[in-house]
Amino acid sequence: MSDRLAGQSALVTGAGRGIGRAIAERLAAEGAAVLVADIDLAAAEDTARAITDSGAAASACQVDVSQRASVAVMVATAAARQGRLDIAVSNAGIMDRMPFLEMTDEFWQRLLGINLTGGFLCGQEAARQMVAQGGGGRIILVASNSGLFGGRGRAAYGASKAGLINLTQSMAIELAAHDIRVNAVAPGPIKTRPEQGDEPPPSVMSRMPMARFGRPEEVAAVAAFLAAEESSFVTGHVYGADGGYTVAGIMEG
Ligand SMILES: NC(=O)c1ccc[n+]([C@@H]2O[C@H](COP(=O)([O-])OP(=O)(O)OC[C@H]3O[C@@H](n4cnc5c(N)ncnc54)[C@H](O)[C@@H]3O)[C@@H](O)[C@H]2O)c1
Repeated sequence: MSDRLAGQSALVTGAGRGIGRAIAERLAAEGAAVLVADIDLAAAEDTARAITDSGAAASACQVDVSQRASVAVMVATAAARQGRLDIAVSNAGIMDRMPFLEMTDEFWQRLLGINLTGGFLCGQEAARQMVAQGGGGRIILVASNSGLFGGRGRAAYGASKAGLINLTQSMAIELAAHDIRVNAVAPGPIKTRPEQGDEPPPSVMSRMPMARFGRPEEVAAVAAFLAAEESSFVTGHVYGADGGYTVAGIMEG
């Protein structure tokens, strides 16, 4: 593993498990000190312990990304513990489905509140910290390929992720003057839980060129690239990590 993030201070939300955990582990393995934030404090502590046991730097923090005060405390904690904040990864999110005609206000608000407002709050609080410390930084939002096309039962989830993609673009434009780059990662089907089975369902496999689940580490590698100096002229973009799922059209015949 390279040390291309040596001396950097990072935070990752939703890092108690799944993709967020893989991103936290990857940033730490490349030399960053990482604040591992999650609404599930025990899970965040488990991730942080695994990182420190490997000899890298991390600590845990509880956060509810849908709440301004909680996000502000998380960013202040990163700055206090790690001296500053260079990299913020807004990954925390929830996925749930409901038919559009039955979708309740409560369902809609919950998905939008965590996924989209969460990205806004994390991005804004992180950016304010970066500007206050003199500018420079990278913000990475974890969107989804569901933000790039429609899906059955996914009106709220897809809208939240499409919102994150446009938020990425607008933040990139406004924050460029402060030398803060903003990009998004849009994962395809990633295996984060045993109950997902060995391969994606047939409806996904039929338009999945690489014909398998992605691994959280494969999303983390893209996030690490966007966090590193190697991507120094990249801002405002959305990077798929999806085995070709988003670009697949006619697959047979
Ligand atoms: N797994 C996939 O196939 C996939 C595909 C596309 C996009 N994504 C996106 O990637 C991100 C991570 O997905 P995952 O599969 O690792 O999910 P996951 O459910 O395994 O983990 C999500 C983490 O976020 C935390 N979390 C939930 N609500 C929170 C809140 N309000 N504040 C702080 N933390 C909170 C959870 O405790 C959990 O640790 C999500 O934004 C998801 O939408 C996942």
